[in-house]
Amino acid sequence: MRAKNNKKKGPLLAIDLGSHSIKVVQGQELGNRLKVTQWAVEKLGPGVYENGLILDAPALKSILTEMIKANHFKVKNVALSIECTEIIKREMIIPKVDEEDQMDLIQYEVSQYLPIDINAYVLEYKVLENFIEDGNSKLRILLGAMPKDIVSSHHEWLESCGLNPVFMDMHSNALEKLVSSAANENLYAASKTTAYVDFGHGIIDISLFEKEHYKFNRLLKMGGSGFDDVLVHHLEIPLGEAENRKKKTSILAIQKAYMNLENNPEAAGDVKNSVVRETMHYMNECMDEMDKVFKYYTSRSAENKIDQIYVYGGGSQFKELPELFRERFGIPTDVMKNLPNIDFVKNNTEALPLFINAMGTLIRN
Ligand SMILES: Nc1ncnc2c1ncn2[C@@H]1O[C@H](COP(=O)(O)OP(=O)(O)OP(=O)(O)O)[C@@H](O)[C@H]1O
Ligand SMILES: [Mg+2]
Repeated sequence: MRAKNNKKKGPLLAIDLGSHSIKVVQGQELGNRLKVTQWAVEKLGPGVYENGLILDAPALKSILTEMIKANHFKVKNVALSIECTEIIKREMIIPKVDEEDQMDLIQYEVSQYLPIDINAYVLEYKVLENFIEDGNSKLRILLGAMPKDIVSSHHEWLESCGLNPVFMDMHSNALEKLVSSAANENLYAASKTTAYVDFGHGIIDISLFEKEHYKFNRLLKMGGSGFDDVLVHHLEIPLGEAENRKKKTSILAIQKAYMNLENNPEAAGDVKNSVVRETMHYMNECMDEMDKVFKYYTSRSAENKIDQIYVYGGGSQFKELPELFRERFGIPTDVMKNLPNIDFVKNNTEALPLFINAMGTLIRN
């Protein structure tokens, strides 16, 4: 848990860069609270940014600079958060050594046990737990290794926008900070095991917490884009229109229509029914993969049980998604739209589920 810290830290522009859209939050950490003064989201369009790769640098630059102008963001110091499959996360147990020697030891362990060129990565770690095993003091640490070329390309992009990149984070770490800061104030449901699910465009990002303690994180390479693809393919409509249709559709209504088709083998093989079948197959595939991650956790110990799911990210806006998850997993599920330790200067918090990663990125410790 973070130490209580009432020291004032400077304001930041926290940015969550995703494959579908960029989210920007301007705010400041004040003790264990976050004061948010401005936020905005902007769509990127296909072929601009994907899985840690800036595919169209001029487009990404103009989108961010326009956003800054249009929303009157004033702060130049940026904390950026991304998530991609190239980032390596590992939990490790190391002997307890003085803080200044920890990094050397971790580097040694990584070079011994991970098949990576350590010089090509920026390493960061945090201590998750101090414990004693067989009479020896040990540390359970979480290592994050981000490829240097990913760090530098994002750095260059932010500088090209006239900004000052000061921190680079990954979403799972941002979430961890957000959850533990909320727990510090006893404001967030912290009494149980929770699965946090960022349902994005190309990534479903799952983090498991016992109370406010981070346990593990897994990325699934799936998300909202899979639905758009089905609609574009079967209905032969442009991507934008597909997305609009998706946003109007209740996922429970699709499930109901799908069940009807399953119970009625003579149902017409028309386009509408193909869309129902394909979208539900895709959703089932997403849920099956999520279930494997949950089972990985619950099978590790007889006591392990997930008590609550919180969904966030753009996909959490799917109509009646929590109801579908509740039914499929048998676990209470809610959209993460309430963070009581955040003070909003503008108080429309409707869009909060989109900004969870960016909110966590505002927190520095
Ligand atoms: N109301 C809605 N109903 C259904 N889907 C929605 C809704 N609003 C947004 N989405 C979908 O959410 C996805 C975007 O989510 P998000 O902004 O979290 O993705 P991202 O962070 O850019 O991508 P990723 O994290 O996967 O790289 C898109 O597929 C978008 O169509
Ligand atoms: Mg995302």
